[in-house]
Amino acid sequence: MAQLEPRSRRGPRLFQVLLLPLLFHFFQGRDFCAAKAGGPARQSQYRTWRSTPPVQRAALPILGDTLQLLNGKTMSSYQVDGRRKFGNVWKTSVLFKKAVIITGAAELAEAMKQESRPNATKAFFPPHHQRLFGTQSLLMQSGPPHRKLRRLVQAAMIPKAVSSYVETINEGVSEFLEKCKSQDGPFSMVEMLRTATVTTMLKILFGRQASASEIKNLIEDVSTWSDGLLSAPLTFLPWSNAARAMRARARVAKIIQGWIQSCAEGDGTLLSRLVFTEDEDGARLTKEEIVDNVFTLVFAATDTTASSLSSSFLALSRHPDLQQQLREVCSEEDMETVDRNLDAFLSEVLRTSPPAPFAMRLVEEDLEVSKVPVPAGWLMVYGFAGTLLCDAERYPQPKEFLWNRTFSDGQGQSLDEAAFGGGPRMCPGRFLAAQVAKTVLREVLGPGGFRWELEPGQDLSQRYTPGLFPVDGLQVVLKK
Ligand code: HEM
Ligand SMILES: *[C@@H]1O[C@H](CO)[C@@H](O)[C@H](O)[C@H]1NC(C)=O
Ligand SMILES: *[C@@H]1O[C@H](CO)[C@@H](O)[C@H](O)[C@H]1NC(C)=O
Repeated sequence: MAQLEPRSRRGPRLFQVLLLPLLFHFFQGRDFCAAKAGGPARQSQYRTWRSTPPVQRAALPILGDTLQLLNGKTMSSYQVDGRRKFGNVWKTSVLFKKAVIITGAAELAEAMKQESRPNATKAFFPPHHQRLFGTQSLLMQSGPPHRKLRRLVQAAMIPKAVSSYVETINEGVSEFLEKCKSQDGPFSMVEMLRTATVTTMLKILFGRQASASEIKNLIEDVSTWSDGLLSAPLTFLPWSNAARAMRARARVAKIIQGWIQSCAEGDGTLLSRLVFTEDEDGARLTKEEIVDNVFTLVFAATDTTASSLSSSFLALSRHPDLQQQLREVCSEEDMETVDRNLDAFLSEVLRTSPPAPFAMRLVEEDLEVSKVPVPAGWLMVYGFAGTLLCDAERYPQPKEFLWNRTFSDGQGQSLDEAAFGGGPRMCPGRFLAAQVAKTVLREVLGPGGFRWELEPGQDLSQRYTPGLFPVDGLQVVLKK
């Protein structure tokens, strides 16, 4: 708690993040009490806890690690410190459940392989997130229904689909460039990137059906909706953020439903792909599934992509020689070389500033990871940040920013996908994210781009809010 920084602009939001686990506990109350009161649930949990051989285990005042794991300032340092103190895999308690934190590329691969068993794990989110995303969201579904839903949603984001969005992406990026260039004084690059990524995502989704004023209203409602995710789940108080978020959700849902009716097959929008895609059994997504997953996509796409770009600008500011080198690549080389170089650079940005630092699963069938048993009923936390930032086997000299490490890492790909997770829930939006991020970088660093300077005196340390962004919003001024 003492970590909270009062002068941080994001103070109130961080505080809400801290509050979340407490409220979650409150709303989970019945479960928790049932386990305490005895009965079969308690017995089996007790047994498995006792039969687990001792592993290095974080000292737990129950709340301690919850706060560190979920606090935007310590989210990744918690994993780094834990890995140093306890090894690759350790036990603790998160959100009032026993939990195993897993770091290390090999360990994550082992865990994700077991997750591929159909009913091995379940998605784990607080109830008010279930209401905000909707029960048909990919994030909320688990097991065989998740696989089925995912095949349909994913079809709108495979590389072939992404290549059909290129024109929309290019337009969005040109708008971003023009807007940056028209600024007279210093501005927040983070705000600029957030607006650009959400606008571009909405245009990819809805295309020309959405007028400029509709997009503007949508952005406002989406922002109100996402504030609800980090707020106390007080939907029964009409003036609370949570209730405002649910009302914003209802407004957006109504608009989307109208567009589902009116959109035409092959009109090039992501929405049309969601509406008309069929799986091998000829099944299509229902209206409800489409609405819930449109919210999920906007949420999953926007902050993460904006964060990877904000971290890219920061890295380029800190490494002027590299910036110059990439500028030369972007103005002289053929597309393929540009792409390969930007893939490599983006990989290192995602590695050193992972936008999604961890993911959680509720274990449903006993598992074992790195010889550590993970019994049913426990949480399994995938420590992406702890892996990316300090697995020296996978990333030699992990503390160094080596922008072209994928060229020689033996994986044979210029884009390292580890920051996008893995296994049956690996980010299906990674191709779209990479396309958007690389287009911004190519245009900014290319001949029609711009140069910038960081405003002096700002706090450049990064916090999860929930994407990873510099505290003061990365204030820049363009060099004329
Ligand atoms: C740099 C940008 C991005 C990063 C680093 C990122 C990272 C991740 C990670 C680590 C996961 C896995 C979470 C888990 O294991 O539970 C994930 C899931 C997901 N991502 Fe992304 N993501 C990015 C961009 C996007 C974009 C652009 C979209 C959509 C167009 C997207 C859509 C999703 C969805 C729908 C899921 C849930 C998949 C499921 O549960 O089956 N992401 N993302
Ligand atoms: C997984 O769970 C579902 C629903 O509980 C069940 O119908 C299905 O048979 C299970 N699959 C396996 C392989 O256990
Ligand atoms: C990576 O980049 C550095 C400096 O930018 C350069 O010296 C080195 O040769 C590059 N390595 C590879 C494998 O391209």
